[in-house]
Amino acid sequence: MLSAIRRVASTNPASMMRPLASLPKVMTSAAFSTSSSAYAPVNVKNITVFGSGLMGAGIVQVAAQNAFNVTMVDLNPEALKKGQDIINSSLKRVAKKQFPEDEGKQKEFIEKTFAQIKTSSDAEAASKDADLIIEAIVENLTAKQQLFSRLDKVAPEHALFCSNTSSLPIGEIAKATKREDRFGGLHFFNPVPQMKLVEVIRTSETSQDSFDAFMDVCTRMKKTPISCKDTPGFVVNRLLVPYMMESIRIVERGEATPQDVDTAMKLGAGFPMGPFELLDFVGLDTTKFIVDGWRKEGKVDANLVAPIKILDDLVAKGHLGRKSGQGFYSYQGVGGKK
Ligand SMILES: NC(=O)c1ccc[n+]([C@@H]2O[C@H](COP(=O)([O-])OP(=O)(O)OC[C@H]3O[C@@H](n4cnc5c(N)ncnc54)[C@H](O)[C@@H]3O)[C@@H](O)[C@H]2O)c1
Repeated sequence: MLSAIRRVASTNPASMMRPLASLPKVMTSAAFSTSSSAYAPVNVKNITVFGSGLMGAGIVQVAAQNAFNVTMVDLNPEALKKGQDIINSSLKRVAKKQFPEDEGKQKEFIEKTFAQIKTSSDAEAASKDADLIIEAIVENLTAKQQLFSRLDKVAPEHALFCSNTSSLPIGEIAKATKREDRFGGLHFFNPVPQMKLVEVIRTSETSQDSFDAFMDVCTRMKKTPISCKDTPGFVVNRLLVPYMMESIRIVERGEATPQDVDTAMKLGAGFPMGPFELLDFVGLDTTKFIVDGWRKEGKVDANLVAPIKILDDLVAKGHLGRKSGQGFYSYQGVGGKK
Protein backbone atom coordinates (compact mmCIF):
# COMPACT_ATOMS: atom_id res chain seq x y z
CA MET A 1 0.00 0.00 0.00
CA LEU A 2 2.43 2.61 1.15
CA SER A 3 5.63 2.00 -0.73
CA ALA A 4 6.37 5.74 -0.75
CA ILE A 5 7.99 5.43 2.62
CA ARG A 6 10.71 3.07 1.38
CA ARG A 7 12.15 5.62 -0.97
CA VAL A 8 11.89 8.43 1.55
CA ALA A 9 13.87 6.47 4.09
CA SER A 10 16.68 5.91 1.64
CA THR A 11 16.80 9.55 0.47
CA ASN A 12 16.67 11.22 3.87
CA PRO A 13 19.84 13.18 4.60
CA ALA A 14 21.79 11.54 7.43
CA SER A 15 21.92 14.93 9.13
CA MET A 16 18.19 14.59 9.88
CA MET A 17 18.80 11.51 12.01
CA ARG A 18 19.45 11.92 15.71
CA PRO A 19 21.39 9.31 17.66
CA LEU A 20 19.26 7.16 19.98
CA ALA A 21 21.19 8.42 22.99
CA SER A 22 19.79 11.92 22.46
CA LEU A 23 16.14 10.80 22.34
CA PRO A 24 13.95 11.40 25.37
CA LYS A 25 13.58 8.29 27.49
CA VAL A 26 9.91 7.92 26.59
CA MET A 27 10.93 7.19 22.97
CA THR A 28 13.24 4.31 23.80
CA SER A 29 12.19 0.73 24.45
CA ALA A 30 12.43 1.42 28.19
CA ALA A 31 8.94 2.88 27.86
CA PHE A 32 7.49 -0.59 27.18
CA SER A 33 6.64 -3.36 29.60
CA THR A 34 9.48 -5.82 30.00
CA SER A 35 7.46 -8.27 32.06
CA SER A 36 7.75 -11.92 31.13
CA SER A 37 4.62 -13.91 30.44
CA ALA A 38 3.74 -16.81 32.73
CA TYR A 39 4.06 -18.98 29.62
CA ALA A 40 7.28 -20.35 28.19
CA PRO A 41 8.64 -18.42 25.18
CA VAL A 42 6.94 -19.76 22.07
CA ASN A 43 8.94 -21.19 19.21
CA VAL A 44 6.35 -20.62 16.50
CA LYS A 45 5.96 -23.43 13.96
CA ASN A 46 2.22 -23.52 13.26
CA ILE A 47 0.49 -20.33 12.14
CA THR A 48 -3.25 -19.96 11.56
CA VAL A 49 -4.30 -16.95 9.50
CA PHE A 50 -7.90 -15.70 9.59
CA GLY A 51 -9.06 -13.99 6.39
CA SER A 52 -7.99 -15.08 2.92
CA GLY A 53 -8.41 -11.65 1.33
CA LEU A 54 -5.69 -9.37 0.02
CA MET A 55 -3.71 -9.27 3.27
CA GLY A 56 -4.49 -12.70 4.69
CA ALA A 57 -3.48 -14.47 1.47
CA GLY A 58 -0.24 -12.47 1.33
CA ILE A 59 0.63 -13.34 4.93
CA VAL A 60 -0.16 -17.03 4.32
CA GLN A 61 2.08 -17.05 1.25
CA VAL A 62 5.04 -15.44 2.97
CA ALA A 63 4.72 -17.71 6.01
CA ALA A 64 4.51 -20.83 3.80
CA GLN A 65 7.47 -19.73 1.68
CA ASN A 66 9.49 -19.56 4.88
CA ALA A 67 8.68 -23.06 6.10
CA PHE A 68 5.95 -22.34 8.66
CA ASN A 69 3.00 -24.77 8.69
CA VAL A 70 0.09 -22.52 7.77
CA THR A 71 -3.67 -22.88 7.98
CA MET A 72 -5.69 -20.31 6.05
CA VAL A 73 -9.22 -19.75 7.37
CA ASP A 74 -12.15 -17.91 5.82
CA LEU A 75 -15.92 -18.03 6.07
CA ASN A 76 -16.58 -20.34 3.11
CA PRO A 77 -14.92 -22.34 0.32
CA GLU A 78 -15.48 -19.56 -2.25
CA ALA A 79 -13.51 -17.06 -0.16
CA LEU A 80 -10.77 -19.66 0.41
CA LYS A 81 -10.58 -20.31 -3.33
CA LYS A 82 -10.08 -16.56 -3.91
CA GLY A 83 -7.23 -16.62 -1.39
CA GLN A 84 -5.62 -19.60 -3.11
CA ASP A 85 -5.90 -17.82 -6.48
CA ILE A 86 -4.22 -14.71 -5.05
CA ILE A 87 -1.38 -16.87 -3.70
CA ASN A 88 -1.07 -18.85 -6.93
CA SER A 89 -0.65 -15.77 -9.16
CA SER A 90 1.76 -14.17 -6.73
CA LEU A 91 3.85 -17.36 -6.40
CA LYS A 92 4.05 -17.65 -10.19
CA ARG A 93 5.63 -14.19 -10.32
CA VAL A 94 8.07 -15.03 -7.50
CA ALA A 95 8.99 -18.37 -9.10
CA LYS A 96 9.64 -16.76 -12.52
CA LYS A 97 11.94 -14.23 -10.86
CA GLN A 98 13.80 -16.84 -8.81
CA PHE A 99 14.16 -19.43 -11.60
CA PRO A 100 13.82 -17.43 -14.85
CA GLU A 101 15.02 -20.20 -17.16
CA ASP A 102 13.76 -23.30 -15.35
CA GLU A 103 10.03 -24.11 -15.53
CA GLY A 104 10.55 -27.35 -13.60
CA LYS A 105 12.03 -25.50 -10.65
CA GLN A 106 9.27 -22.88 -10.82
CA LYS A 107 6.65 -25.64 -10.58
CA GLU A 108 8.53 -27.36 -7.75
CA PHE A 109 8.77 -24.09 -5.79
CA ILE A 110 5.03 -23.42 -6.14
CA GLU A 111 4.10 -26.99 -5.16
CA LYS A 112 6.46 -26.94 -2.18
CA THR A 113 4.94 -23.69 -0.93
CA PHE A 114 1.35 -24.92 -1.35
CA ALA A 115 2.28 -28.11 0.53
CA GLN A 116 2.82 -25.91 3.62
CA ILE A 117 -0.75 -24.53 3.41
CA LYS A 118 -3.98 -26.11 4.69
CA THR A 119 -7.33 -24.40 4.30
CA SER A 120 -10.37 -24.46 6.57
CA SER A 121 -13.66 -22.75 7.23
CA ASP A 122 -13.89 -24.27 10.71
CA ALA A 123 -12.41 -21.57 12.95
CA GLU A 124 -12.26 -23.70 16.10
CA ALA A 125 -10.67 -26.78 14.49
CA ALA A 126 -8.14 -24.62 12.65
CA SER A 127 -6.94 -23.06 15.91
CA LYS A 128 -6.37 -26.19 18.00
CA ASP A 129 -2.69 -26.65 17.03
CA ALA A 130 -1.78 -23.02 16.45
CA ASP A 131 1.30 -21.44 18.03
CA LEU A 132 0.37 -18.11 16.49
CA ILE A 133 -2.95 -16.79 15.19
CA ILE A 134 -2.84 -13.85 12.80
CA GLU A 135 -6.17 -12.16 12.13
CA ALA A 136 -6.71 -10.31 8.81
CA ILE A 137 -10.51 -10.20 8.56
CA VAL A 138 -12.77 -7.18 7.94
CA GLU A 139 -11.76 -3.91 9.61
CA ASN A 140 -14.52 -3.99 12.24
CA LEU A 141 -13.86 -3.95 15.98
CA THR A 142 -16.87 -6.07 16.96
CA ALA A 143 -16.14 -8.72 14.30
CA LYS A 144 -12.51 -8.97 15.46
CA GLN A 145 -13.45 -9.10 19.16
CA GLN A 146 -16.08 -11.79 18.54
CA LEU A 147 -13.62 -13.90 16.59
CA PHE A 148 -10.84 -13.66 19.19
CA SER A 149 -13.24 -14.31 22.05
CA ARG A 150 -14.22 -17.62 20.37
CA LEU A 151 -10.62 -18.57 19.56
CA ASP A 152 -9.43 -17.79 23.09
CA LYS A 153 -11.51 -20.71 24.34
CA VAL A 154 -10.10 -23.29 21.93
CA ALA A 155 -6.52 -22.27 21.05
CA PRO A 156 -3.66 -23.75 23.12
CA GLU A 157 -2.73 -21.78 26.26
CA HIS A 158 0.67 -20.89 24.83
CA ALA A 159 -0.68 -19.63 21.49
CA LEU A 160 0.04 -16.02 20.62
CA PHE A 161 -2.68 -13.87 19.05
CA CYS A 162 -2.23 -10.87 16.82
CA SER A 163 -4.24 -8.59 14.57
CA ASN A 164 -3.21 -7.05 11.25
CA THR A 165 -5.60 -4.11 11.76
CA SER A 166 -4.58 -0.81 10.16
CA SER A 167 -6.65 1.50 12.30
CA LEU A 168 -8.20 -0.19 15.35
CA PRO A 169 -6.58 -0.16 18.81
CA ILE A 170 -4.89 -3.52 19.46
CA GLY A 171 -5.57 -3.21 23.20
CA GLU A 172 -9.33 -2.97 22.57
CA ILE A 173 -9.31 -6.13 20.44
CA ALA A 174 -7.18 -7.95 23.02
CA LYS A 175 -9.70 -7.17 25.77
CA ALA A 176 -12.03 -9.76 24.22
CA THR A 177 -9.58 -12.45 25.40
CA LYS A 178 -8.01 -13.63 28.64
CA ARG A 179 -4.53 -13.57 27.07
CA GLU A 180 -3.71 -9.88 26.80
CA ASP A 181 -0.06 -10.70 27.67
CA ARG A 182 0.10 -12.92 24.59
CA PHE A 183 -1.58 -10.42 22.27
CA GLY A 184 -0.06 -7.85 19.91
CA GLY A 185 -0.26 -6.36 16.46
CA LEU A 186 1.56 -7.52 13.35
CA HIS A 187 0.86 -4.84 10.77
CA PHE A 188 1.94 -6.09 7.35
CA PHE A 189 1.86 -3.90 4.25
CA ASN A 190 0.24 -4.44 0.88
CA PRO A 191 1.37 -6.24 -1.24
CA VAL A 192 2.69 -8.47 1.57
CA PRO A 193 5.12 -10.57 -0.53
CA GLN A 194 6.87 -7.40 -1.75
CA MET A 195 6.75 -5.06 1.23
CA LYS A 196 9.56 -5.67 3.72
CA LEU A 197 8.13 -3.80 6.70
CA VAL A 198 6.07 -5.20 9.56
CA GLU A 199 5.07 -2.89 12.41
CA VAL A 200 5.08 -4.96 15.60
CA ILE A 201 2.64 -3.42 18.05
CA ARG A 202 2.97 -3.99 21.76
CA THR A 203 0.26 -2.87 24.14
CA SER A 204 0.96 -2.10 27.78
CA GLU A 205 -0.04 -5.73 28.50
CA THR A 206 2.05 -7.51 25.82
CA SER A 207 4.75 -9.53 27.59
CA GLN A 208 8.39 -9.31 26.60
CA ASP A 209 8.39 -13.01 25.61
CA SER A 210 5.42 -12.48 23.30
CA PHE A 211 6.99 -9.40 21.78
CA ASP A 212 10.28 -11.27 21.21
CA ALA A 213 8.36 -14.12 19.53
CA PHE A 214 6.55 -11.65 17.23
CA MET A 215 9.86 -10.07 16.20
CA ASP A 216 11.37 -13.53 15.65
CA VAL A 217 8.47 -14.64 13.41
CA CYS A 218 8.84 -11.50 11.27
CA THR A 219 12.56 -12.06 10.86
CA ARG A 220 11.99 -15.72 9.93
CA MET A 221 9.49 -14.48 7.32
CA LYS A 222 12.41 -12.36 5.98
CA LYS A 223 10.64 -9.15 6.91
CA THR A 224 12.06 -6.13 8.72
CA PRO A 225 10.10 -5.57 11.93
CA ILE A 226 9.94 -2.28 13.79
CA SER A 227 8.47 -1.85 17.25
CA CYS A 228 5.68 0.62 17.98
CA LYS A 229 3.28 1.37 20.80
CA ASP A 230 -0.47 0.88 20.35
CA THR A 231 -1.16 4.35 18.89
CA PRO A 232 -3.51 5.48 16.06
CA GLY A 233 -1.98 4.55 12.70
CA PHE A 234 1.18 3.21 14.39
CA VAL A 235 4.13 4.79 12.53
CA VAL A 236 3.53 4.64 8.78
CA ASN A 237 -0.15 5.57 8.60
CA ARG A 238 0.18 8.09 11.44
CA LEU A 239 2.52 10.05 9.19
CA LEU A 240 1.03 9.29 5.78
CA VAL A 241 -2.68 9.85 6.47
CA PRO A 242 -2.31 13.46 7.74
CA TYR A 243 0.08 14.09 4.80
CA MET A 244 -2.56 12.90 2.34
CA MET A 245 -5.25 14.97 4.09
CA GLU A 246 -3.12 18.13 3.94
CA SER A 247 -2.54 17.49 0.23
CA ILE A 248 -6.31 17.52 -0.35
CA ARG A 249 -6.57 20.75 1.64
CA ILE A 250 -4.01 22.39 -0.68
CA VAL A 251 -6.30 21.53 -3.59
CA GLU A 252 -9.44 22.60 -1.70
CA ARG A 253 -7.92 26.02 -1.04
CA GLY A 254 -7.19 26.32 -4.77
CA GLU A 255 -3.43 26.57 -4.25
CA ALA A 256 -2.40 23.79 -6.65
CA THR A 257 -3.93 20.98 -8.71
CA PRO A 258 -3.61 17.30 -7.76
CA GLN A 259 -1.27 16.83 -10.75
CA ASP A 260 1.01 19.66 -9.59
CA VAL A 261 1.07 18.41 -5.97
CA ASP A 262 1.98 14.91 -7.19
CA THR A 263 4.72 16.25 -9.46
CA ALA A 264 6.03 18.40 -6.62
CA MET A 265 6.33 15.53 -4.18
CA LYS A 266 7.86 13.15 -6.72
CA LEU A 267 10.43 15.57 -8.10
CA GLY A 268 10.95 17.73 -5.03
CA ALA A 269 10.85 15.17 -2.24
CA GLY A 270 11.90 12.02 -4.11
CA PHE A 271 8.65 10.15 -3.37
CA PRO A 272 7.87 7.37 -5.86
CA MET A 273 4.17 8.34 -5.92
CA GLY A 274 2.43 11.64 -5.31
CA PRO A 275 -0.18 11.88 -2.51
CA PHE A 276 -3.14 11.82 -4.92
CA GLU A 277 -1.79 8.79 -6.75
CA LEU A 278 -1.37 7.18 -3.33
CA LEU A 279 -4.88 8.17 -2.24
CA ASP A 280 -6.35 6.60 -5.39
CA PHE A 281 -4.23 3.48 -4.85
CA VAL A 282 -5.19 3.04 -1.19
CA GLY A 283 -8.88 3.83 -1.84
CA LEU A 284 -10.56 7.09 -0.86
CA ASP A 285 -13.13 5.20 1.25
CA THR A 286 -10.33 3.51 3.21
CA THR A 287 -8.66 6.85 3.95
CA LYS A 288 -12.00 8.41 4.94
CA PHE A 289 -12.75 5.41 7.17
CA ILE A 290 -9.41 5.80 8.99
CA VAL A 291 -9.76 9.58 9.40
CA ASP A 292 -13.38 9.34 10.63
CA GLY A 293 -12.31 6.67 13.15
CA TRP A 294 -9.43 8.73 14.49
CA ARG A 295 -11.68 11.79 14.80
CA LYS A 296 -14.22 9.77 16.79
CA GLU A 297 -11.50 8.34 19.07
CA GLY A 298 -10.14 11.84 19.75
CA LYS A 299 -6.54 10.69 20.18
CA VAL A 300 -5.17 12.59 17.15
CA ASP A 301 -5.04 16.41 16.82
CA ALA A 302 -8.54 17.37 15.56
CA ASN A 303 -7.16 19.73 12.87
CA LEU A 304 -5.27 16.87 11.24
CA VAL A 305 -8.43 14.79 10.82
CA ALA A 306 -11.05 17.50 10.21
CA PRO A 307 -13.54 16.47 7.48
CA ILE A 308 -12.76 17.61 3.93
CA LYS A 309 -15.70 18.22 1.59
CA ILE A 310 -13.89 17.10 -1.59
CA LEU A 311 -13.05 13.74 -0.03
CA ASP A 312 -16.52 13.22 1.45
CA ASP A 313 -18.18 14.12 -1.89
CA LEU A 314 -15.98 11.77 -3.93
CA VAL A 315 -16.68 8.87 -1.56
CA ALA A 316 -20.43 9.62 -1.56
CA LYS A 317 -20.39 9.45 -5.39
CA GLY A 318 -18.60 6.10 -5.28
CA HIS A 319 -15.41 7.59 -6.73
CA LEU A 320 -13.08 5.55 -4.59
CA GLY A 321 -9.87 5.58 -6.65
CA ARG A 322 -8.31 2.88 -8.80
CA LYS A 323 -10.69 0.17 -7.64
CA SER A 324 -13.77 2.05 -8.90
CA GLY A 325 -12.13 3.52 -12.04
CA GLN A 326 -12.41 7.10 -10.76
CA GLY A 327 -10.89 8.98 -7.87
CA PHE A 328 -8.78 12.11 -8.10
CA TYR A 329 -7.73 10.65 -11.46
CA SER A 330 -9.69 8.64 -14.05
CA TYR A 331 -8.66 5.10 -14.89
CA GLN A 332 -9.32 3.16 -18.07
CA GLY A 333 -11.56 0.48 -16.69
CA VAL A 334 -11.70 -0.43 -13.00
CA GLY A 335 -8.15 -0.82 -11.64
CA GLY A 336 -6.68 0.25 -15.02
CA LYS A 337 -4.11 2.89 -15.87
CA LYS A 338 -4.46 6.68 -15.71
N1 LIG B 1 -5.71 -3.73 2.30
C1 LIG B 1 -4.63 -3.13 2.83
O1 LIG B 1 -3.90 -2.39 2.14
C2 LIG B 1 -4.28 -3.39 4.27
C3 LIG B 1 -2.98 -3.12 4.71
C4 LIG B 1 -2.65 -3.43 6.04
C5 LIG B 1 -3.60 -3.96 6.90
N2 LIG B 1 -4.87 -4.18 6.44
C6 LIG B 1 -5.84 -4.76 7.37
O2 LIG B 1 -5.93 -6.16 7.09
C7 LIG B 1 -7.26 -6.63 7.37
C8 LIG B 1 -7.81 -7.32 6.14
O3 LIG B 1 -7.78 -6.44 5.06
P1 LIG B 1 -7.93 -6.97 3.55
O4 LIG B 1 -7.65 -5.79 2.68
O5 LIG B 1 -7.17 -8.23 3.37
O6 LIG B 1 -9.51 -7.31 3.50
P2 LIG B 1 -10.29 -8.22 2.46
O7 LIG B 1 -11.67 -7.67 2.42
O8 LIG B 1 -9.53 -8.38 1.19
O9 LIG B 1 -10.32 -9.66 3.16
C9 LIG B 1 -11.00 -9.92 4.37
C10 LIG B 1 -11.38 -11.39 4.39
O10 LIG B 1 -11.80 -11.75 5.71
C11 LIG B 1 -12.86 -12.68 5.58
N3 LIG B 1 -13.59 -12.74 6.85
C12 LIG B 1 -14.48 -11.85 7.34
N4 LIG B 1 -14.90 -12.27 8.55
C13 LIG B 1 -14.26 -13.43 8.83
C14 LIG B 1 -14.25 -14.33 9.93
N5 LIG B 1 -15.00 -14.12 11.01
N6 LIG B 1 -13.46 -15.44 9.85
C15 LIG B 1 -12.68 -15.67 8.78
N7 LIG B 1 -12.65 -14.85 7.72
C16 LIG B 1 -13.42 -13.73 7.75
C17 LIG B 1 -13.65 -12.19 4.37
O11 LIG B 1 -14.46 -13.22 3.85
C18 LIG B 1 -12.50 -11.77 3.43
O12 LIG B 1 -12.10 -12.83 2.61
C19 LIG B 1 -8.05 -5.41 7.84
O13 LIG B 1 -8.04 -5.37 9.23
C20 LIG B 1 -7.25 -4.25 7.26
O14 LIG B 1 -7.38 -3.05 8.02
C21 LIG B 1 -5.23 -3.93 5.14
